[in-house]
Amino acid sequence: MGFKTDFVWGAASAAYQIEGAAFEDGKGSNIWDSFSHIPGTVYGGHNGDIACDHYHRLEEDLDTMAALEIKSYRFSVSWARVIPGGIGAVNEKGIAFYDRLINGLVKRGIKPCMTLYHWDLPYALHIRGGWLNPDSPEWFAEYARLIRERFGDRVHDFITFNEPQVFVGCGYYNGEHAPGYKLPKWELLRIGHNVLKAHGLAVKELRRGEPCRIGFTGASCPAVPATEKNEDIEAARKNYFESDYDAFAFSDAYWFDPVITGKYPEWVYNYESHFKPEITDDDMELISQPIDFIGLNIYQGKYISAQGLVGETPGTPRTSIGWPITPQALYWGPRFMFERYGKPIIITENGMSCHDAVSLDGKVHDPNRTDYLHRYLSELKRAAESGTEIDGYYVWSLTDNFEWAKGYSERFGLVYVDYAAQRRVIKDSAEFIKNVISTNGKDL
Ligand code: FCB
Repeated sequence: MGFKTDFVWGAASAAYQIEGAAFEDGKGSNIWDSFSHIPGTVYGGHNGDIACDHYHRLEEDLDTMAALEIKSYRFSVSWARVIPGGIGAVNEKGIAFYDRLINGLVKRGIKPCMTLYHWDLPYALHIRGGWLNPDSPEWFAEYARLIRERFGDRVHDFITFNEPQVFVGCGYYNGEHAPGYKLPKWELLRIGHNVLKAHGLAVKELRRGEPCRIGFTGASCPAVPATEKNEDIEAARKNYFESDYDAFAFSDAYWFDPVITGKYPEWVYNYESHFKPEITDDDMELISQPIDFIGLNIYQGKYISAQGLVGETPGTPRTSIGWPITPQALYWGPRFMFERYGKPIIITENGMSCHDAVSLDGKVHDPNRTDYLHRYLSELKRAAESGTEIDGYYVWSLTDNFEWAKGYSERFGLVYVDYAAQRRVIKDSAEFIKNVISTNGKDL
């Protein structure tokens, strides 16, 4: 018992958060290049112009991955680096960068897992209306075609979208992320519908190539039953999949129901507005193209009892970004998702931000992160042992990086980055993860 023998252990990243070289080698601009340059949008006026300079330090970062013995690396492609205008002309220098990355992984025996969209919409498409434009699904399909043609011979694991909850909810509803909009909800429904159609078209496009595994990754904040009494479990299950008009963009069911079951939650059909998007049967068939796994990014959960949300007790432990530490989220989240949708689960992100620093001995000691990972992974193992199909787990993140609106103030990496010197220091928690990987989680 325990994790499957072919369990995929990895670390994850995203293009804008690490690459830098934002305006080099023919890359087009994207909405994060623009948003992060607006004063007041990002902590400390930080931006991803240089980030971890991964674009120029690729070999070193690949060697670090090999040293940590990760089996898979999840990264995203910067759409505007490979197609500067979002559609049309291809930037061969951008393709060459990802070729170097993929070949470097393959050479080291590390399986590439590629995310097509981790929030960095090409600016040229943004000024045409971005995801509000009815052509946006076709734009994404053209990009997916390029991905298949250029990388599909070596990459066999794909994620179409990362966390639509966050890039739609924070980007177009509360304005905290690029492009910083606060749109009315009927426009969010339009955006959601276009993103879901884009997902469906991309799945069809990727299936035209070599056999591959395709997933869709959500940002999930599982409802954790306050006790293991049946009534609390039922209440948590119900709460987890509630999706109503008020907070739909952030919910799981609004995104996963259509992708897996081909149906939106009922309220979407009943919603009355002159501005409501048209939803056809053909659209729903497209959106629900079979996928191979559900990707879940889980950092925290909320406790639910039959009486409702359980308030926090004073002194609840938190990570430095302020998220409560709730390890059981990695038991109940995958379990509820697997029960509802019947698809294998991959934890595509989980990890902790800490106030890391280089100590006098030149090392980075991060016992809190080790403890966090140990607790969460033990719960994931418990889920795997009780029948939830779990195929993999990726730590967020390989290195410290640009944490969106928080800039460089939050450190999530297994590897510390001294940004001024662009120096990497492997943290103690990375040694813990290395051991978990080599023993397939036996000692958890
Ligand atoms: C997730 C994002 C990822 C990273 C982590 C901390 O929401 O997918 O890029 O910022 O949170």
